[in-house]
Amino acid sequence: MRALLLSLLLLPACELEPDVGDPIAERCDDGDSDPDQDVSFARDVLPLFLREHGGCTPCHDPRADGAVGFMTGGLELTSHAALMRGGFNSSRNIVVPGQPCESVLYRKLLPGPPFGSRMPFDGPPFLSGAELRFVHDWIAEGAKDD
Ligand code: HEC
Repeated sequence: MRALLLSLLLLPACELEPDVGDPIAERCDDGDSDPDQDVSFARDVLPLFLREHGGCTPCHDPRADGAVGFMTGGLELTSHAALMRGGFNSSRNIVVPGQPCESVLYRKLLPGPPFGSRMPFDGPPFLSGAELRFVHDWIAEGAKDD
């Protein structure tokens, strides 16, 4: 009887999951998600930067009024050449060709960025899954100016 009572008392405690907290970031995979589909910088990636809503250039074009992303992050997002120059924190790690998971550009677009805030700074909305895959796969495919 005592043994039964004891096991009943202990049972709920044994079923408790260890509290490991929220995952900091989802696992990142450098592989191209769709090797049959080529991603183009000019057609698929740059328009995400340049759009007025949910984009980047209101803050990352030095010609825009109050371009806080350019002033405090040092990053211009108006062209391939400007992007590849990087920003104050990212510098040459802004885009590491073939390695989206090492690229600050991609990681700043996900929850749990390596420093500062998730981009766009004024989000949500943030980039959709399909838009994130464009950025990811463009870097995975070599980050060409195409
Ligand atoms: C409302 C303004 C705003 C918008 C829109 C915005 N940013 Fe930013 N961005 C900032 C600010 C402010 C910083 C500096 C603070 C930080 O790193 O969180 C920054 C920093 C960055 C950095 C780090 C630069 C460095 O090397 O230090 C990256 C990368 C970046 N932004 C990418 C983007 C992308 C890509 C978009 C569009 C999808 C975007 N941002 C949209 C304001 C903005």
